[in-house]
Order: sequence, then C-alpha cells, then structure tokens
Amino acid sequence: MIEPLKPPGKILLSEQQIQERIVQLGQQITKDYANSVPLLVGVLKGAFVYMADLARAIALPVEFDFMAVSSYGNATKTSGVVRIVKDLDIDLSGRDVIVVEDIIDSGLTLSYLRKNLESRGPASLEICALLLRSGRQPNELGLKYVGFEIPPDFVVGYGLDVAERYRNLPDLWSYDESSE
Ligand code: IMP
Ligand code: MG
Repeated sequence: MIEPLKPPGKILLSEQQIQERIVQLGQQITKDYANSVPLLVGVLKGAFVYMADLARAIALPVEFDFMAVSSYGNATKTSGVVRIVKDLDIDLSGRDVIVVEDIIDSGLTLSYLRKNLESRGPASLEICALLLRSGRQPNELGLKYVGFEIPPDFVVGYGLDVAERYRNLPDLWSYDESSE
C-alpha cells in the first residue's frame, strides 16, 4: 500500500515561519551564553529536527547529547507516565545545560525532566521549547525560550509524530483527529 506523505489537517506553521523564529532564538541564546560552551540536551524523538536547526542558529561552540523519554505511547493523549528510555552520555556537573524540547503540553514531561536533570548538578539549566500549548504559562513552567504558542489541536510534522508518522514534514500541521 502506498501511504500519503501529508497528514489530514492543515498547515499551522510554515517552514519559513519556523525557520525565522529559530534564527531569533539562536541569536538570543548566542547572546545569553557568550563565553560559555552550552550543552544542548535534545529530547528524543520529537526534538531531533528542531535541535539540528536550532544548533546551527547558535554562533557558539556547543555540545550535544540526547535523551529519550516516553509519555504518550502511540496515542494522541497523554498516559501520564514518564519514563527514561535512553539516558545521557555526558556528565552534567558544572555545565550550562539547555534542554531542547519540541512541545510543552501538560508540562508533565518537562517537570519530570527538570527534576531529574537538576539533581545531576549542572551550573545552569534552561529550557528552549519550540511549541507551547496555549493556556500554559511560560513563567510558571520556568520556560526561558519559547518559539510559538499554539492552539489545543494535536500537531504533527517538523519532528512531531502521530504513531511515528509525519516527523519528516518541514511544516507543522494541525492533525485532524476525526480522520482516525
Ligand atoms: P507533556 O508531558 O504533556 O507536556 O507532553 C510533552 C510531550 O508529548 C512532547 O515532548 C511530545 O513528544 C508529546 N506531544 C504533546 N503534544 C503533542 C502533539 O500535539 N503532537 C505530537 N506530540 C505531542
Ligand atoms: Mg511523540
């Protein structure tokens, strides 16, 4: 069977909108971390595309590590359970850590990650999320960098998936769940 490339739904953020915002975020991080070698911690799998673009918008020496957590399984609703599927290789002690996340929805994954990573003794720890579900407060969640606030719709593309599909689309789509 030949599967369609594009999801049911419509484009919420175009490739160009995303790329322009990432350039701004990269410039901000470059300014904020002058004289430091930040360690970018990408949260797999959703952040892998964003991480690649963000890193190339930062004009500083950076290092990379990745961790994988699972909170959704294969569905579009949270299970409420977060677990580490792949842990970091690099020691965080004394490092300026920037956690690179695709989307903050309930904030559950983030609060788990923050607690876990802070216990490893980094010099600093900030979050750089591409997407924040509207209605969530960036200040309450302690988010230093946010790309876009988006409506409640489930989204796919630009690294984000539904059941592992659509991660390779350059735009962000709102996914029509009634099609399932
Ligand atoms: P939270 O724990 O509810 O904040 O969920 C965060 C994680 O759930 C993200 O890192 C994503 O992997 C996933 N997620 C949340 N909303 C969406 C969405 O609209 N599309 C795809 N994945 C999502
Ligand atoms: Mg996911």
